[in-house]
Parts: sequence; C-alpha cells; structure tokens
Amino acid sequence: MRVAWLTDIHFEFLNKAQIDQFLDEVAQHQPDALLITGDIANAKTVASTVQYIALKLIKPVYFVLGNHDFYGGDIEPVRAQMATLTRQKRGVAWMPAAGVVELTPHVALVGHDGWGDGQYGDFMASTIMLNDYVHIQSLRLADKAILMQKLNQLGVQAGDYLRGILPEAARQYPQVMVMLHPPPFQQACWYQGKASTWDDPFLPHFTCKAAGDALLDVADAYPHVTFTVLCGHVHSSGEVQMRPNLRVLTGGAEYEQPEVQRIFDL
Ligand SMILES: [Fe+2]
Ligand SMILES: [Fe+2]
Repeated sequence: MRVAWLTDIHFEFLNKAQIDQFLDEVAQHQPDALLITGDIANAKTVASTVQYIALKLIKPVYFVLGNHDFYGGDIEPVRAQMATLTRQKRGVAWMPAAGVVELTPHVALVGHDGWGDGQYGDFMASTIMLNDYVHIQSLRLADKAILMQKLNQLGVQAGDYLRGILPEAARQYPQVMVMLHPPPFQQACWYQGKASTWDDPFLPHFTCKAAGDALLDVADAYPHVTFTVLCGHVHSSGEVQMRPNLRVLTGGAEYEQPEVQRIFDL
C-alpha cells in the first residue's frame, strides 16, 4: 500500500492547467491513496476540488480541512457538506466522518480538522490577526476574549474526537496515522527549521493544544502502538518525536507551488 501525503496545496491559487500538471506529478508516484491535511481550496470549491482529485487520479482521497477551506463560508455548513459528501460519494472521505479507516491490516488512519485553539503561547498578547477572523463568518468577532473562547471550543471538539477515536484504532492496529491541519504541539510548530518559542505571536494561532493533549494521553495509554501525526498549516516542515511511540511530521508549503510532501510505503 503506497500513500502520498499532500498538505496546504491551496488549489484556489492555481488555474486548471497548473492543477492538472501537479496531479500528473502526483500520479507519477503511483500512489494507491492520497492523504491531504487541509488547506485544499476554499469554502465554495473544496467539495468539487477533492472530487476532481479523486476522479483524475482514480484513487481514494482521505482528507481533513484547513482554515482556508472555510474562507468565504462558515465552519459548520462546510463540515456538514463534507459529511454528506463522504456518505454519498465513493473515493472521497473527510476523515472525521469516515472514522477508523484501514489502510493495511497493520495501519489505521484517523483524522480531524483541528483548529489553532489559542492555548499555547499568549493569545491575548499576540498582535497577529489571521485572515480567518475576517473570511470565516463565525470567527468575525470584534471581542478578542470571545474569539479566544470560540477557538478554544474548536480545539476541544478536536481533542474530544481524538480521545474517542484513537483508542478505538489503537485497540485494533499496531500503527495509527493521524491527520490534522494545525500542529498539535509547540515543538511541531516549525518556522525555517526552528520550533516556535512561547513568545512567538503566531504560536497560539498555529497550534491545536487540545489535540496534542489527547495524543499524549492516548500514546501513553497504548505504549505498544505507534502513532504518526501528519499536519501542515505552518507551511514550514519539521519532524519531532514527542514520545517513543508518537512522532509528528509537519509539512512545508509555498503558495502556488504545491508539492508531494512524502510517500509512505505501508
Ligand atoms: Fe496553508
Ligand atoms: Fe492553514
């Protein structure tokens, strides 16, 4: 089983010829399936984009959504649309709706969008204003404390989901791959080869602590299961071993230059 991992491909910035050219490049690796860890397109185009990728490669596409995938829309309606798509269309699976997916008899795949939940670093002191807080309807909140509460809730959703699904996967499979959009740890929040420091103003917006806490607890509870987290969002690559059985790979990206992040032969 060969899977190709893509992240932050941002097809909203490419024309059809550029998209086709990139997908031809992906096809050259002859993957059996694609894993995409978010920032695929935007709210209006993400559904048609994932279907187009699956159709063009004739391979299943397993994905989570990134913040950009909600731009021009809102979180709940886009997620509802993805759940319907996953139920109704073969070959495209938004991970939270797909549950535990068997990649091989030894490797399971799970995933959640996650969210930059404002819990690492100092959110209230950060001067960073992400486009999320303009282009995603329910995050257009003038009051910063209320925005922080909302981001916390989005993180908790991811953490709760992982606390339910990870043990289910770990009881059945010796290896579990976990897809998220934002890195779940400060140590996985890379920028030009270095992990973020606590005073990095981007850190609270770029990491999902609730997901990280869930991952640590489950990794400790299942020491004989290997967990590999794939994430993106920060557009800067790096790798960190958080526990002997918990590794986090953060993908790099540049706008208008999508790339195959990694090929896994499972
Ligand atoms: Fe991105
Ligand atoms: Fe992102």
